[in-house]
Amino acid sequence: MKGGPVEKRKQAMRKQAGKSDFGSVHHTENTKKTAEVKGLFRSGTSWLDYLADHAILPGMLLFSRFGYALARRFWTEPAGTLYGRKVVLTGGTSGIGKAAGFQLAEKKAFLTIIARNEKKAQQVQQEIVEKTGNPHVDYLLADLGLMQDIKQVAKKLQDTKISIDILINNAGALFNERRETSEGFEQTFATDLLGGFYLTELLKKSLSRSPGARIINVASGGMYTQKIAVDDLENSQEPYNGAKAYARAKRGVVILTQIWAAQLQKDGITVHAMHPGWVDTPGIERSLPEFHALVNRILRTPDQGADTIVWLAVSEKAGHSTGRFWLDRRPHETVVFPGTGESEKDRQALWQKLQDMISQLRD
Ligand SMILES: NC(=O)c1ccc[n+]([C@@H]2O[C@H](COP(=O)([O-])OP(=O)(O)OC[C@H]3O[C@@H](n4cnc5c(N)ncnc54)[C@H](OP(=O)(O)O)[C@@H]3O)[C@@H](O)[C@H]2O)c1
Repeated sequence: MKGGPVEKRKQAMRKQAGKSDFGSVHHTENTKKTAEVKGLFRSGTSWLDYLADHAILPGMLLFSRFGYALARRFWTEPAGTLYGRKVVLTGGTSGIGKAAGFQLAEKKAFLTIIARNEKKAQQVQQEIVEKTGNPHVDYLLADLGLMQDIKQVAKKLQDTKISIDILINNAGALFNERRETSEGFEQTFATDLLGGFYLTELLKKSLSRSPGARIINVASGGMYTQKIAVDDLENSQEPYNGAKAYARAKRGVVILTQIWAAQLQKDGITVHAMHPGWVDTPGIERSLPEFHALVNRILRTPDQGADTIVWLAVSEKAGHSTGRFWLDRRPHETVVFPGTGESEKDRQALWQKLQDMISQLRD
């Protein structure tokens, strides 16, 4: 009923969250503070950000280790600590996630890695504890492409009654062949979009109990090339193309980041998406061997790729913004090529379709 109490509450929430429940990027960065700091890489949008977003060749070079080296010259924020903060990290057994695990443990986080391979998880846990001296590192097992596994792992986390401060959805993969999981979902969609969506929806209550909680979604600059395909989320209506399916899923992750940012602001949770750059990892070598062979000399190290994830977890500045897409500690545009942006209707349809899928999985 228009003007009724429910509508009034919705309006108040929309006002607080910036736009609509499906509102586009909402940014609450402390603009006054930002305006005070002038100069390249220290405030607003710089020519380098513009190049990264609009000029294809130099922009893509900024995804390489050169971009990282250039960007880091302007980082001034003091290193913070995550002491006592409970961080849940998916995909911590390889590449960027593994490097992030080390960095988070060095910052004294209480870390839980969600992994599908117990042997790898045990090994990484042991390595992190030994090298960082932080004993607060454990793991839980789940295949993040399988919704039943996600349901169970979320329950285990909830059963501990420990509030989660930071959720990092990092696990992901690019599959060159179309396959379906044992639950019948197309695997790119299941692993790179639906799984993270389901885990986040299940854990958001726990996150809302932690002051200043954060969700960090590892997306990809690959998403720039594609529009979300809400009518073909499982990539079945045209010949399967792994890079395209991956880019669409990561586009979905960025859209969800913006939707959650608007919705969860009332709970004090900030939500961030990021691009790690082009990073030399087992994942990229396996899924894009030709690209890897061509550009491996200019790829970033996993530590460099993990930097912005960890910065988003610890930085005071990052905690003042929500719903943005970050590369090298800088927010970037999310749509740069014509025809790759989505409509409000697409956003709502995406949200509804994912909700419908997971609501069928609930008890
Ligand atoms: N490398 C790049 O240049 C690049 C660029 C843009 C975005 N990214 C994104 O960065 C993230 C990390 O990628 P990466 O390059 O570090 O790849 P990676 O070396 O293959 O690491 C991926 C991690 O995710 C885990 N994982 C994958 N599928 C899973 C599943 N179904 N269930 C549970 N865990 C699963 C892997 O577990 P296992 O160890 O068991 O395989 C591994 O720990 C991904 O989201 C990727 O899309 C990477």
